[in-house]
Amino acid sequence: MPGKRLIDTLRGEKTDRPPFWFMRQAGRYLPEYREIRKSASSFLDLCYTPGLAAEITMQPVTRFGMDAAILFSDILVVPHALGQEVRFVEGEGPKLVPVYNEAEIARLSMDALAQRIAPVCETLRRVKKILPADKALIGFAGAPWTVACYMVEGGGSRDFEKVRGWVCRDPKGFARLIDRITEATIVYLTAQAEAGAEALQLFDSWAGVLGEAAFASLVIAPARRIADALKMRFPQIPLIGFPRLAGANYLAYAGQSGMESMSIDYSVPLGWTRAQLQPQTVLQGNLDPMLVAENIDAALAQAEAIRRAFGGRPFVFNLGHGMLPHTPVAHVQALSDYLKTP
Ligand code: CP3
Repeated sequence: MPGKRLIDTLRGEKTDRPPFWFMRQAGRYLPEYREIRKSASSFLDLCYTPGLAAEITMQPVTRFGMDAAILFSDILVVPHALGQEVRFVEGEGPKLVPVYNEAEIARLSMDALAQRIAPVCETLRRVKKILPADKALIGFAGAPWTVACYMVEGGGSRDFEKVRGWVCRDPKGFARLIDRITEATIVYLTAQAEAGAEALQLFDSWAGVLGEAAFASLVIAPARRIADALKMRFPQIPLIGFPRLAGANYLAYAGQSGMESMSIDYSVPLGWTRAQLQPQTVLQGNLDPMLVAENIDAALAQAEAIRRAFGGRPFVFNLGHGMLPHTPVAHVQALSDYLKTP
């Protein structure tokens, strides 16, 4: 029985070469994705249609041979499943009816959660059946802080004024929102594990906008609750945290979050990361996706530098953030070919 490079590495073993996969490896840069996208009425419908979502999950793995497939879905499935109105507007990104006070938090309900996430779990079951034996299946959720950012801002934001304002003005009230999302996330990731996910990643894309104390209470503490709940039932499933742009706060996250692996963005220096972070966690990262899109020669040189810096210990090759929609397919092919050589 062949082992799975990703799982072995996340458990701290060295493999013949570092496993690789790319955040947002499925999506708009792939012509076969754009073709399927045309047939669905909305992006969320695509996430809730297991036949299509399973096909999209497989597309990059079939084409490029990554060591893992990541569930095709979105972090905003959780607010949607809690009853918040969520839409994806073409060219503008997500739009939500904002949650801005405790009465709104009280209206978020777990009642329909299991039913709403059921199709996502069905996607995992379908992918599990067709995925080659040496490839791993990754499930994911947004981390509570990042999901709260979208829920309170009503969409993307440059400065996160509304949500950071709430954190400073009324930390107790805001904690209730984080608690609600944390509980839903535990239910969601537990269901993904039951449906066959073999590793789980928590995306905290906006962890970097918080100061030290808020980072501890809103990023690390919820990650720890989620990790403790999952480890109790699924001790064999590795957990990957991604507190993006955390800078020196990555150190506290590595030590205290309960996640055995940590994905890092492309801003952290390789030397510092190797010396300070790598002894504490299984690193995953951190090639700049803009370099992959714009300058493949520079991207390949940087990929080599990353493998040289982190290759002495178990590590997972990935990007420092999601693949950009304008990335040429030929660049992803060249990078994948390079990463498949030992
Ligand atoms: O990695 C994968 O291939 C799996 C699928 C995946 C998607 N979103 C599909 C998607 C994953 C893991 C995500 C995570 C996600 N979603 C994050 C965390 C990672 C990050 O990028 O910081 C966040 C913040 C979101 C929220 C989100 N979803 C935004 C802000 C947008 C709009 C911007 C954009 O890139 O379009 C989305 C839409 C989205 N999620 C698309 C895809 C393929 C594009 C929608 C389309 O096809 O129209």
